[in-house]
Amino acid sequence: MLSAVEYCHTMLRERLLPGDLAVDATAGNGHDTHFLAQLIGPEGKVFAFDVQPEAIAATQRLLQRWGVPEACYQLVGASHEDMVAHLPGDAEGRMAAVIFNLGYLPGGDKSVITRAETTLPAVRAALELLRPGGLLLLVLYPGHAGGAEEAQVLRDFASGLPPRQWQVTEYRTLNARNAPPVVLAVEKAATESSLDWEI
Ligand SMILES: C[S@@+](CC[C@H](N)C(=O)[O-])C[C@H]1O[C@@H](n2cnc3c(N)ncnc32)[C@H](O)[C@@H]1O
Repeated sequence: MLSAVEYCHTMLRERLLPGDLAVDATAGNGHDTHFLAQLIGPEGKVFAFDVQPEAIAATQRLLQRWGVPEACYQLVGASHEDMVAHLPGDAEGRMAAVIFNLGYLPGGDKSVITRAETTLPAVRAALELLRPGGLLLLVLYPGHAGGAEEAQVLRDFASGLPPRQWQVTEYRTLNARNAPPVVLAVEKAATESSLDWEI
């Protein structure tokens, strides 16, 4: 079985093309930013956000270590709820993918966590940024303090999205003893009528 992050990367690999634009809403140690940059190549661009300067620095180091050209990414030390203000003015409706890998910075300050109060407005903004057929991925970590509440808010929100415009799926382990990560994937319809599975 694929881990939550492997599952996300598989979905991204199937959809992203060279030249695409993408957002990593939680840069952390830079692994997702690097993965996105590899997929979209020198003609594309990844915009990566994090509130912790350590995370931005770690992401920068990783991208430099892998020789990713600077033109392929923009690292922003700001909260993802303000992402629109830091993106090009014509970004709306052009992003191929936006990923939120939530929780705390692995190896960093575990008290700095993503929180529903800011994650939810950021997710709403991210949906506006997606192009038709674009993909929003949320990796939820219900196992840490505060994580279950955030996961519930996002799950409730995603479950209520209108099915003519959005297809929402969940990837989770059903028989785990602890609370493993969960992936919510939200795909924007390619056209208003392209989702014929509406209930
Ligand atoms: C699980 S880590 C991300 C892992 C990362 N995507 C990677 O591949 O290494 C979660 C990150 O979210 C960041 N974060 C917390 N609140 C945030 C916010 N409001 N806006 C942007 N990033 C935030 C944390 O600083 C932390 O680095």
